[in-house]
Amino acid sequence: MSGRLRYSSAMGTFLNRLVILFLFLSSASQVFGSNICTSRGVTTCQQCLAVHPSCAWCSQEVFGKKGSSVSRCDLKQNLLDGGCSATSLEFPSSILTIQKDVPLSDKASGTAEDVTQIKPQKVHMVLRPGDTKRFTVSVKQVEDYPVDLYYLMDLSFSMKDDLARLRTLGSELAVTMGRTTSNLRMGFGAFVDKTTSPYMYTYPPEAVKNPCYGISQTCQAQFGFKHVLQLTEKVARFTEEVEKQEVSRNRDAPEGGFDAIMQAVVCKDKIGWRPDASHLLVFTTDAKTHIALDGRIAGIVQPNDGQCHLDDDNVYNKTTVLDYPSLALMTEKMSENNINLIFAVTSYVVPLYQEYSRLIPGTVVGTLSDDSGNVIQLIEEAYAKIRSKVELELLEVPEELNLSFNASCLNGEIIRGLKSCSGLKVGDTVSFSVEAQLRGCPKEKSRTFTIKPRGFKDSLEVTVEFACTCNCEANKEVDSPLCSNGNGTYECGVCQCHQGRLGPRCECSVEDYSPTDDANCMPKQDSPVCNRRGDCLCGQCSCHTSEHGQVWGQYCECDDFNCLRFKGALCSDHGKCNCGYCQCDAGWTGENCNCSTRTDSCSSSIGLLCSGRGNCECGVCQCTQPGAYGATCEKCPTCPDSCTIKKACVECQHFKRGQYIEDNSCNRICKDEITEVAELVFNDRNAVNCSYKDENDCVVHFQYHEDDSGKSNLFVVKEPECPEGPDILVVLMAVAGAILLLGLVGLLIWKLLVTIHDRREYAKFEEERTKAKWDTANNPLYKGATSTFTNVAYRGN
Ligand SMILES: *[C@@H]1O[C@H](CO)[C@@H](O)[C@H](O)[C@H]1NC(C)=O
Ligand SMILES: *[C@@H]1O[C@H](CO)[C@@H](O)[C@H](O)[C@H]1NC(C)=O
Ligand SMILES: *[C@@H]1O[C@H](CO)[C@@H](O)[C@H](O)[C@H]1NC(C)=O
Ligand SMILES: *[C@@H]1O[C@H](CO)[C@@H](O)[C@H](O)[C@H]1NC(C)=O
Ligand SMILES: *[C@@H]1O[C@H](CO)[C@@H](O)[C@H](O)[C@H]1NC(C)=O
Ligand SMILES: *[C@@H]1O[C@H](CO)[C@@H](O)[C@H](O)[C@H]1NC(C)=O
Repeated sequence: MSGRLRYSSAMGTFLNRLVILFLFLSSASQVFGSNICTSRGVTTCQQCLAVHPSCAWCSQEVFGKKGSSVSRCDLKQNLLDGGCSATSLEFPSSILTIQKDVPLSDKASGTAEDVTQIKPQKVHMVLRPGDTKRFTVSVKQVEDYPVDLYYLMDLSFSMKDDLARLRTLGSELAVTMGRTTSNLRMGFGAFVDKTTSPYMYTYPPEAVKNPCYGISQTCQAQFGFKHVLQLTEKVARFTEEVEKQEVSRNRDAPEGGFDAIMQAVVCKDKIGWRPDASHLLVFTTDAKTHIALDGRIAGIVQPNDGQCHLDDDNVYNKTTVLDYPSLALMTEKMSENNINLIFAVTSYVVPLYQEYSRLIPGTVVGTLSDDSGNVIQLIEEAYAKIRSKVELELLEVPEELNLSFNASCLNGEIIRGLKSCSGLKVGDTVSFSVEAQLRGCPKEKSRTFTIKPRGFKDSLEVTVEFACTCNCEANKEVDSPLCSNGNGTYECGVCQCHQGRLGPRCECSVEDYSPTDDANCMPKQDSPVCNRRGDCLCGQCSCHTSEHGQVWGQYCECDDFNCLRFKGALCSDHGKCNCGYCQCDAGWTGENCNCSTRTDSCSSSIGLLCSGRGNCECGVCQCTQPGAYGATCEKCPTCPDSCTIKKACVECQHFKRGQYIEDNSCNRICKDEITEVAELVFNDRNAVNCSYKDENDCVVHFQYHEDDSGKSNLFVVKEPECPEGPDILVVLMAVAGAILLLGLVGLLIWKLLVTIHDRREYAKFEEERTKAKWDTANNPLYKGATSTFTNVAYRGN
């Protein structure tokens, strides 16, 4: 029992010590440790907030121990730990509130009131500089949304057959569009070109009234743009008005259609665009169009003002005064009025209008047959195309705000950096994730901007409040008694001293010069005051400003312009100059930060750094192998392979011998790390197994391997394979065996020769024998034991 007690009390003491040590360390780090908030040397609350979203400011009048200089700009917890009361803390945080969030509608049933196609509708954000906030926007195209369709027709002479055709199409168009909406209104307008030479026939004088005079026909006088029929539900009226139309005639090939588009877009009241409807503007033509600056050939130099100029007869009466509108102006006005433009043009000019369409977002192009017979189908398709795409547009976003988007279109897939979705059906809901980052502090306190799907009336209104200022600034006191009887402005806990006053409380006057103070301004006895770069005021160095930059430090010993330069650039432009030393940015080293730590530029195609023939220094190969050249030392007609190169390094680094030891170049050339291993193992695909015979006839095996960081490793097998002494018995037996074998072979050869000889002799004998004229059977000396006689007279029987 007592043993256990003793043990636990000992343990307790140990823990106590640990806790004390820990507390000491943590308080030490609090005093000496610097963080992003404290390291910037900011002196006002506003500057502090701009440093980083995590920084807070303490505006308490008395903060920190007397005499110590504790930063008032610090992480919130550090300030609280340092004795700042929570009420004196300036720490605005970024907040996002959704102020209006009406759910998306399902169906419009012909009316667009109370239809919601975007959600949320109102967002309020408080943003600190550098901070980000994220929210999601959903967009849904409701079914049966009201449609306004305005038909803008080219009435130049070549459109004669089109006009005839259109007279018969009015009701059909209404029926077709009626399939997508139960609330359709149609209107009609026509255009030719500016009524002035050289666009117009002015001679003979009859041609002004009847431009077809020259071709012995009658047609209506030329006009710029004429609004004929206001948008109406009555389809019969459309047909009626179209029937009344006659073509006209102009001189040059391009027409003045863009003038007409501009008027149709901006004359909201005359045209009758409803605020709660899709706005389709169908532009039909078979010719090219005049664009901004074309007016100059008629002496028209006044730019288009984007205003409505229809007179009482609904005719554009500034056609000869204002130039054609620019594409940018048209885009702006169409976006403002939610107009979807459809270019219904004949095949000959389709490529041209496709180019315009690319420059004017939200427009579509369809190919019109020669007599406009397919215009209904074309409009239907174009409308479907318009409705199949949702694209967010941004209006009046403050410059300091960086918005980024991710789209989540149909199948829940997230597409990064996109603010549009296409291929949708009516009724589909898509959503966009929006991230707003404040990058600076605008002059105003808050701004409102709009996010809206192109061509929709619905929009999301975002108000951003810039949390750039501190609340305590409201209580600032000019000539405050706290700042030495009115020698400074007291603001957020600190005094901003008037000219000529110094000190945390402006307690010191520049005129109150006292030579005894100078001791405080000298780094060492008898050294120059403030390093001759400042004045000693009230015992503090007040450093001179230099034309090159800031001078600072207790004795003005520091500056941020006296650092090493390379090619004229301070710290090679890859680092910061801090009190005489370059602090290199990530990826750079060296005294003057001119040395890249990258090694990828040294990697040769075979995967070895500098092809194994050199060292990568500052991202550049220094080829050490004689004869090697090229960016990665890859070229070297006379070079041995990497095994041969590294052999010399193994020799000098591992065995301390060889040529590199003799000429003392081992450390310069060989920078490899040597590891001794029992046997080689598989390391990497790029590792190379090598072996060579050293001066003792031993075979050394090693592996050469570069890891990803480009460090080269040599794994050397500990025991080189050396040849062993020859085995006497084996040698004797081998010799004996060889002699035996030779004898046997000799005997065999002799036997073979003898056999061959015998065969030959025998064959010769046989030959001789056959050549002989006589036969053993006819030996002339031979006399048989019997004689045969023939009886000539005998006849057989
Ligand atoms: C154009 O028509 C408007 C409206 O009727 C009129 O106020 C204006 O004076 C006319 N401008 C010209 C140049 O005729
Ligand atoms: C804005 O944000 C995007 C995405 O986060 C980023 O790629 C871009 O560099 C930022 N622009 C600026 C000017 O900071
Ligand atoms: C978009 O997606 C990327 C990767 O998924 C993410 O890092 C980024 O923060 C997202 N941006 C927004 C605005 O949601
Ligand atoms: C500044 O301070 C001095 C000494 O504390 C005082 O005499 C003087 O009146 C102050 N100046 C002003 C403008 O208040
Ligand atoms: C970097 O600067 C030093 C000193 O001026 C110079 O010797 C060296 O060649 C430079 N290195 C590179 C990679 O430019
Ligand atoms: C090197 O030798 C080791 C051991 O024999 C083997 O496992 C490895 O695959 C070899 N490496 C190469 C690149 O041939």
